[in-house]
Amino acid sequence: MRIDPRLVQRLQTARRVVALTGAGISAESGIPTFRDAQSGLWARFRPEELATPEAFRRNPELVWDWYAWRRGLVARATPNPGHLALARLGTLVPDWLLVTQNVDGLHQRAGSRAVVELHGNIHRNKCFDEGVVVAEWRETGERPPRCPRCGGPLRPDVIWFGESLPAQALAQAEAAARGCQMLFSIGTSAAVFPAAQLPLTALQAGAMVVEVNKDPTPLTGIATFSLLGLAGEILSRLLEETWPA
Ligand code: OAD
Repeated sequence: MRIDPRLVQRLQTARRVVALTGAGISAESGIPTFRDAQSGLWARFRPEELATPEAFRRNPELVWDWYAWRRGLVARATPNPGHLALARLGTLVPDWLLVTQNVDGLHQRAGSRAVVELHGNIHRNKCFDEGVVVAEWRETGERPPRCPRCGGPLRPDVIWFGESLPAQALAQAEAAARGCQMLFSIGTSAAVFPAAQLPLTALQAGAMVVEVNKDPTPLTGIATFSLLGLAGEILSRLLEETWPA
């Protein structure tokens, strides 16, 4: 697949570029996405059974165990060529911001710096009652473990349905989307707001919006360019054509 030369030229000279990623960027590392009809996480579980505060109140052990299983998957996974290409692009574009909806930390493991995490991080935990981040606790085998300060149950520091995004991270992402010259929307179904608003904001502000996705999404018809295929392959190719080794 050849990348459109207009896109390559724009990237070579752009100063302010944003990349927004979703679960699709980590699919090639073996981490299931959310909305794939067969293998997606939400095909096997209903989100409101696992990813809501109500679900945690109802069955904290089930929710804790589900996240522990996902943490295990992530720990065994390694960054793929897509993560690595984005880390490299971050060193080549003068003002680059990587905004992710993923909680797996694979961008950081690939070498990306200053990643804006809109949906939290699965490796961090916080107290369900007080919201304070908790790094260490006494392991008693209890699931979920208890907050060493107040005894409340611990939960992963990720955003669940019905919860607000971290205000500072969202404000930083929105400002970057408004002020960028190019925005890449990569491996996201572009269905979950407010993250899905970022490419639309960039388009309205006159930026070139490039979608990289395996399947068409609501963004496909309106993005400046839509590159259909695997993120790892397309991003490696883009890097090679833009800044040949
Ligand atoms: P989704 O599962 O909704 O979408 C993943 C997208 O990646 C789909 O459009 C796939 O076609 C595409 N895809 C899969 N494999 C790919 C590959 N190898 N290369 C390129 N694209 C690929 O995941 P997200 O859009 O990230 O939020 O979902 C957004 C949010 O919804 C998640 O952060 C999560 C979920 O509910 C919370 O849990 C708060």
